[in-house]
Amino acid sequence: MTDSIRFPANFTWGVATSAFQIEGAADADGKGPSIWDTFSRNPANIKDGTNGDVACDHYNRYREDVALIASLGVDAYRFSMAWSRVQPAGKGAWNEKGFDFYKRLLDELDARGIASHLTLYHWDLPQGLQIDGGWMSRDTAHRFADYAHEVARRFGDRLATIATHNEPWCTANLGYGNAQFAPGVADKKQAIQVSHHLLLSHGLAMQSMRATNTEADLGIVLNLWTADPATDSEADRKLAALEWANSNEWFLDPLFKKRYPELSLQAHGANAPDIQEGDFDIIAQPIDFLGVNYYRREVMSAEDPPRKPVGGIGFTDMGWEIYPQGLTELLVKMKDEYPNLPPVYITENGMAAVDVVEDGQVADNQRIEYVRTHLETMKAAMDHGVDVRGYFLWSLMDNFEWNSGYAKRFGIVYVDYATQQRIPKASALWYRDFLAAQQRQRQAA
Ligand code: FCB
Repeated sequence: MTDSIRFPANFTWGVATSAFQIEGAADADGKGPSIWDTFSRNPANIKDGTNGDVACDHYNRYREDVALIASLGVDAYRFSMAWSRVQPAGKGAWNEKGFDFYKRLLDELDARGIASHLTLYHWDLPQGLQIDGGWMSRDTAHRFADYAHEVARRFGDRLATIATHNEPWCTANLGYGNAQFAPGVADKKQAIQVSHHLLLSHGLAMQSMRATNTEADLGIVLNLWTADPATDSEADRKLAALEWANSNEWFLDPLFKKRYPELSLQAHGANAPDIQEGDFDIIAQPIDFLGVNYYRREVMSAEDPPRKPVGGIGFTDMGWEIYPQGLTELLVKMKDEYPNLPPVYITENGMAAVDVVEDGQVADNQRIEYVRTHLETMKAAMDHGVDVRGYFLWSLMDNFEWNSGYAKRFGIVYVDYATQQRIPKASALWYRDFLAAQQRQRQAA
């Protein structure tokens, strides 16, 4: 049983959200539009035709939401700041009312003893910067560093960690590669160039934040997955190796080895990015932690139609294969490939399920099983020597799941969007009890 697994006493347990997915209040108090406001207001872009204008109305309900977070007994909360709330155009004037919202949120978290883990960029670029060229423009990387500096200067003493980006793979490949996400571009060459500018912006932001002497740990959050060949054929194995290079090494190599993986560069050919002299030195600034978001693995097949993953334990409501052991494999492989890997946080892990309220309760037993098995496989990686410092369950509550709208529910708390009522699911109660048991172990130790 997971309850009996002993995690280190100083292990950080948390829940995670992001600004655009929960805040709503899209135009409140001087907030500028972001690319996700623009993108989601075109109903054709979102599967259920919804947008983020109201979301979970967290902007107005943050007090009650922090009380909810506290009721789970977590140590920490991971959330993101909406750049266009604090700097409406993405450059120039700061918006004090926007900063004041995050100050009040931090006050509330502090009052309850919950550590704050901030992400600077969870995909909502100020629309003004998009008009200037968005992440295709190198200049955006410098605007991001200015924003990061200001946030670290103001809040650096109140944050446990600051992550520059959340999942730059998604920003680049879903935002610019296949148009599933804002800003809705489908152009492989642009996607690759954007990924380079995102990495550059990370390095520049690391430098600008370090200049504030903040004591917060600074890092970046990547979505990573293992890639297995569907069969033992050479073609499938080659594809799996290429997938590992394109998805994981493409971001980890520049951060830790000052280069892009050769396999990917060869495959990209003329689409390889423009890199200026000194870029890798900027990108590879030492980081204090690496955030890893893990949901699934990829199974690669050269056959047409490709072979589907077997899905031994099943699939989530996103259609993602449930594959807990991938988390152990991923972390151990990373430790082997990157001897200078810093401490790791699992910054996201969780599943979408078809949750229904019955008699005021949500029996999301499959989610409990998902989390439980992933905690076990995370612990197995720790037993192999991977330095994992914390785990953040995605997500605190159901929210706007990007181009899936409100149709996909990832929360351990159910949100009734008609009334904004929050109903803790069985998984929330399970997590609370699990954390209480961990707490008892800590005290006994
Ligand atoms: C991750 C995102 C997060 C959420 C989960 C399900 O890729 O970081 O915002 O959408 O997936």
